[in-house]
Amino acid sequence: MSTFFPRSLYQAFRGQCSYSAKGLTIILIALFLAFNLIVYIHFSDLLNPPIQDLPRKADQRESSSLVMSRHPFPPTSDWMSDWLYNQTVDSKLDESVGKGLKIDVVYTWVNGSDPTLMAVKERYEDASPFFQKFRAARNARVGQSNSGLTANRYRDMDELRYSVRSVAEYASTMFNRIHILTTVVDPETQESQAPSWLNNASLDVIQLVRHDVIFKDKTLLPSFNSLAIESQIHHIPMVTDVFLYLNDDVFLGTPMAAADVWTPLYGFVFHMEPTLLVPPFMHTPDNTLNVGEWDSLQYSNYLLSMQFGPRHRSYLAHVPHVLSVPLLDEIQSMWPEEFEATSSHRFRGEGQARDVHVSFFMAHYVAERLRETQLSSFWFNRLDANQDGILDWSEREQFLKRVDNWNQVQYEKSTQWPPLPYFQNFSSFVSNSEDHLRQLGMPPTGSSTYRLSGLDGYPFMLASANTTSTVQGLDNRPYMVNDDVQLRRCHLNIDFCLGSDFKSSTVEAIDHDASTTIFQRLAFTEFHCGDCLLHMLRQTATEPGLGSEILPVEKDSKVYQDVVSDLTKYNYVIAMSSYTFVSLMDPFGSQTFLNQIMNKKATEAFFCINDNVNNNPRVEAQVRDIFKRFLDQRFPTSSPWEKP
Ligand SMILES: *[C@@H]1O[C@H](CO)[C@@H](O)[C@H](O)[C@H]1NC(C)=O
Ligand SMILES: *[C@@H]1O[C@H](CO)[C@@H](O)[C@H](O)[C@H]1NC(C)=O
Ligand SMILES: *[C@@H]1O[C@H](CO)[C@@H](O)[C@H](O)[C@H]1NC(C)=O
Ligand SMILES: *[C@@H]1O[C@H](CO)[C@@H](O)[C@H](O)[C@H]1NC(C)=O
Ligand SMILES: *[C@@H]1O[C@H](CO)[C@@H](O)[C@H](O)[C@H]1NC(C)=O
Repeated sequence: MSTFFPRSLYQAFRGQCSYSAKGLTIILIALFLAFNLIVYIHFSDLLNPPIQDLPRKADQRESSSLVMSRHPFPPTSDWMSDWLYNQTVDSKLDESVGKGLKIDVVYTWVNGSDPTLMAVKERYEDASPFFQKFRAARNARVGQSNSGLTANRYRDMDELRYSVRSVAEYASTMFNRIHILTTVVDPETQESQAPSWLNNASLDVIQLVRHDVIFKDKTLLPSFNSLAIESQIHHIPMVTDVFLYLNDDVFLGTPMAAADVWTPLYGFVFHMEPTLLVPPFMHTPDNTLNVGEWDSLQYSNYLLSMQFGPRHRSYLAHVPHVLSVPLLDEIQSMWPEEFEATSSHRFRGEGQARDVHVSFFMAHYVAERLRETQLSSFWFNRLDANQDGILDWSEREQFLKRVDNWNQVQYEKSTQWPPLPYFQNFSSFVSNSEDHLRQLGMPPTGSSTYRLSGLDGYPFMLASANTTSTVQGLDNRPYMVNDDVQLRRCHLNIDFCLGSDFKSSTVEAIDHDASTTIFQRLAFTEFHCGDCLLHMLRQTATEPGLGSEILPVEKDSKVYQDVVSDLTKYNYVIAMSSYTFVSLMDPFGSQTFLNQIMNKKATEAFFCINDNVNNNPRVEAQVRDIFKRFLDQRFPTSSPWEKP
């Protein structure tokens, strides 16, 4: 199992490179290297300013106590508490917990080949000052009109029909409903689009959800910006709390189960590309319509960085994404202006590319919150052993001894691995996941393999986390998620991460405010310190689970319940799947790539096929034909919801 970063890298570069099929791999590798270099050269000097003193949202603490009110499982059930405490699944637990767990499927779809919609769109373009400015600039440059410039973003190649077939074939046991978000074509007539192939007897299983149902402010419609639409996606009525989100150009290739999306024990299942990194600052493009996904990722990471520390964060793999209604509610309540602004950008590019990217945002928000919950529980509930709100010398002394021991082992030259007493009993939360899921009555994962749980530490800890100084530039590179957690090393620098008062025996007490300041610095500003601390805590735990190091001692207390509830809410695993990203540009390349996917039937869990054909009618017709033949061959059986 593997993910292939060059494919989504290719996506990041789409429209900027031409290729021959033979040279593609080489080009991709070169692009990857060049890309990192570009990122480094362009941004290395920008990396410094945001590192210190980022403002944190004031309301951040409060929202941490929100519970998943519509969560299918009570957040503080005893068996969940046991699981977090000592990693054991209660033997009395029966299959009713997970049996029949349903996760709905959600699509965004627009039929851009619909002439009515195109006419409406043109009207809005004409009325958009942004568009006019752009058009003028472009006409001056190349002397041509911009019509059709972004046609491929909207053009319908009948992908939805076949993507739904792939869901019917491979995921039919997983969902109650498929929700398809549809455009209201004409605000005057209120006419909305519907897939022409849809049998209207299926309109229970398939829910057509008009954009005006999910947009609070209907004057923002119609919207031609998928990021704006996604920013409202959690307002779909009757959708399950956790749902699977697909673009219509994403197809399932192998059987998929609920455990590929979310489970009570392991939480959300995220797929990330640990070597393809989004930088923590914004990119402000010139007046351009070619605003891509990357701009919204950078903007989202900028917002996350203000809150949780300025680090590069991994790109999400091009596969179906898990989203959650309560979590998106929570995120929206923390960034209300940003969500509102995103929803108001009718075209991508309006608002200087300040669009929130919901899937990326949620995955990293969850990862940060789980990390924060563990770190703060250790800091405020365990390090302060007598719970008087003050870190006295004896508490600090004991901890410092532990850090010293840990540091000694870390970089010792040793031919033996593991080098010293640590690590030996580390047991990852994802061990034996299949058995545990069976105990809950859940089928095992189909299309993914769990590699690491967020309860094992922060998965993207720096490769060489020597915490003697602030992290900069290319050092800000995480691990590959398939690296064994036990092979990681970090040196927790006491002076840099904890400060001189902390280690001074003459400072008798560090009061709550001072302790909080140290915590904020090590957890967020100098996030690599926090990553390393969490790694140390998990690796040196004397028992499996979080009970011996991280959870509050007093099991009956409210604080214990709150921590368990947050850990349940933000729980997640990083998984690997095999998938392909293909960009259709010309007939020869399209045929070659599609043949490759055909040959990987039965092994390729997901594939995403991006229509990137230039607006040459002859080429377009040829590619359309090749694509259509591939889809008919790959998914020959009609879904139950198609007209006969
Ligand atoms: C885990 O904890 C629960 C109570 O929290 C306890 O009943 C159970 O015996 C523990 N399991 C192990 C292996 O310690
Ligand atoms: C999209 O619109 C075109 C033109 O109206 C129509 O021929 C086609 O069937 C539509 N596609 C779908 C999937 O509804
Ligand atoms: C379903 O489709 C048929 C024919 O395609 C049409 O006559 C009928 O009115 C439709 N029913 C609904 C509820 O839209
Ligand atoms: C590992 O676990 C075994 C038994 O479970 C115990 O005897 C041993 O001391 C543990 N080792 C460490 C380093 O904690
Ligand atoms: C960490 O980095 C500092 C400064 O570059 C260096 O002096 C020190 O030896 C390093 N420590 C370890 C354990 O590698």
